[in-house]
Amino acid sequence: MDLSGARTLVVGATGVLGDALAGALRSEGVVLALAGRSAPTAQDDEPVFTFDALDLERCAAVVDEAADALGGLDLLVVAIGVAAFGEKAETDVVTEHLLTVNAQAPMAFGRAALPHLTESGGTLAMISAILADVPTPGMAAYSASKAALSAWLTATRPAVRRQGVRVLDVRPPHIETGLADRAVAGTVPDGIKPGSDVDTLVGQVLEALRADRRTVTFDLRAGEYALG
Ligand SMILES: NC(=O)c1ccc[n+]([C@@H]2O[C@H](COP(=O)([O-])OP(=O)(O)OC[C@H]3O[C@@H](n4cnc5c(N)ncnc54)[C@H](OP(=O)(O)O)[C@@H]3O)[C@@H](O)[C@H]2O)c1
Repeated sequence: MDLSGARTLVVGATGVLGDALAGALRSEGVVLALAGRSAPTAQDDEPVFTFDALDLERCAAVVDEAADALGGLDLLVVAIGVAAFGEKAETDVVTEHLLTVNAQAPMAFGRAALPHLTESGGTLAMISAILADVPTPGMAAYSASKAALSAWLTATRPAVRRQGVRVLDVRPPHIETGLADRAVAGTVPDGIKPGSDVDTLVGQVLEALRADRRTVTFDLRAGEYALG
């Protein structure tokens, strides 16, 4: 897609990756709206929206409000998520939280965006995680939530392609953003090392968007990203 002038909503713009993606997209000349649990830092007259991912109706409403403010929508980027680790993550309450924030809320944003993206021939881009490809011990519920989102994106892609909408699933490895320190339960298992850094991931996402790719994945053995 042509990023210059693309009317774009970044959801999770208070987060490290969401904020970095918003900044990089702004530099490419997209027209931004930002959404976060609290108000993200915007520039100039960029519209800002707030939501809680546990309120799925509000998630959908944010998309319509942003599309109204931007005069349409060419790109939705979803970068919300929470982690949980170990035995403390394996409860019904924590699992429901992970599944809601990591899978159901992004799906609610995506469903609400599809009519707007169909109109513009736009792109739906979401960050799932390498855990969708490599479910990891000590992160069973977290892996399941990311696999759920990735499966939804994979199944949605061919269905919406006929309407001219592209779907990008970004599955990064561990990146030091502090996400693990903000886990809703448990602490990160020993020995999990960062596979990438924020700037490299952001560069890969922008390249994938420009080239209308379907996936950004990470090969742990080679230590390299691949665009699918
Ligand atoms: N960092 C990694 O190693 C890594 C690896 C693979 C995938 N990812 C994924 O990348 C995405 C961004 O993560 P990050 O590393 O940038 O972490 P982050 O800085 O903690 O960002 C997480 C974002 O999710 C938002 N969020 C969490 N719970 C929410 C809720 N109930 N309602 C609304 N927003 C909520 C946060 O809002 P607040 O600012 O209000 O907390 C924040 O904007 C996540 O989906 C994460 O799973 C990260």
